[in-house]
Amino acid sequence: MTKLKSGTKLKSGTKLKWGMIGGGEGSQIGPAHRLGAGLDGEFEFAAGALDHRPDAGRDYGQRLGLAADRAYGDWREMLEGEKSREDRIDLVTVATPNATHYEITKAFLEAGFHVLCEKPMTMTVAEGEDIVRTARATGKICAVNYGYTGYSLVRHMKAMVARGDLGKIRLVKAEFAHGHHADAADADNPRVRWRYDPAQAGVSAQFADCGIHALHMASFVTGQEVEKLSADTVSCISSRELEDDAMVNFRMDGGTVGRLWTSSIAIGRQHGLTLQVFGESGGLRWAQEQPNQLYWMPLGGRLQVIERGEANLSPEADRTSRVTIGHAEGMPLAFANIYKDLAEAIRAGKEGRAMDPAANLYPRAEDGLRSMAAVFAVAESGKADGIWVDARPPMFR
Ligand code: NAI
Repeated sequence: MTKLKSGTKLKSGTKLKWGMIGGGEGSQIGPAHRLGAGLDGEFEFAAGALDHRPDAGRDYGQRLGLAADRAYGDWREMLEGEKSREDRIDLVTVATPNATHYEITKAFLEAGFHVLCEKPMTMTVAEGEDIVRTARATGKICAVNYGYTGYSLVRHMKAMVARGDLGKIRLVKAEFAHGHHADAADADNPRVRWRYDPAQAGVSAQFADCGIHALHMASFVTGQEVEKLSADTVSCISSRELEDDAMVNFRMDGGTVGRLWTSSIAIGRQHGLTLQVFGESGGLRWAQEQPNQLYWMPLGGRLQVIERGEANLSPEADRTSRVTIGHAEGMPLAFANIYKDLAEAIRAGKEGRAMDPAANLYPRAEDGLRSMAAVFAVAESGKADGIWVDARPPMFR
């Protein structure tokens, strides 16, 4: 008989207030944030500047239930409006296109708001360092949405590594390879073309868009940071200036060897995010497209399938598993776990208490900065025939 999981225990008192910038009607990531923030009843959707077209943003916000005076036309108007309210939002999500993240995140942190910023957090390493310094100076939470670290079994992998089930970690292999930009006829499609244009996308395309999720997950699960890397970057569709495929070798500060493949031309692969971790006494394998199963092989033992929601998982996995075992949980619930962590962090701050350590796992500005340093390191190495380069941000060297 399956054990029914009890619902999440809601804290008493008023709900936290949540706002979003970007994520308008028809956007890719907006719905996952609304589902994630809304799941536990911890956050009430209270304010938004959802679209780059002011009228469309106001209209959609009101259709989603925002009060007319909190369905803003743009983010500056929202900042001004929220700053002066007694019932101001507790957390704002920045889900706009990449080049706007830095300015919006910095402005909201400086005005005393907690922020969850979409990845990549910034476009340059210097901006990333500035966000880290700003978050530290203001004492506000600056989280970055590496939302796939919210999956229950990813949390369990991290817990297994931390408690030594695998022994010393020898090797981590991460992939984020899909085939959605594989059609050469799409090269001039405006929805695809900008991604490979340095003027709009920056120094990297596929690694900056997808590879950083896989690299961050390797750090999250092993508890180690990337020190140096060597990258082979290619544009398989030759008209592209930026890479659509990269193979990256890296070394981590705990001695672990890393291998990462990211691609957008891998026809037949859909989302393609996977992680394998090999230690001295066991190996783990997880794939995001089957997120409710984790494959575990102890050295000299038999291959086992760990199911999300089963008894005796780690506290970190248990608190992030919501639906009865055997029913699929997916990406919006992984995002919901980031919001669940943030609700606990915000409430702990308000109540002046330590937060639940099992919730203290949300990705931070420091992670966003490390990713940005890795993006620039991949671009530098890729241009120089794969020379090894320091992948650490200057402020962490
Ligand atoms: P999209 O192009 O589908 O939607 C962007 C939305 O932002 C639109 O509604 C647009 O009107 C709005 N917008 C643009 N500029 C704005 C401004 N200045 N003020 C207010 N609203 C504005 O983009 P998508 O795919 O949803 O990506 C948004 C961000 O989310 C990107 O940074 C992307 O990298 C990130 N993302 C993260 C994922 C994750 O797994 N964490 C997955 C997909 C995207």
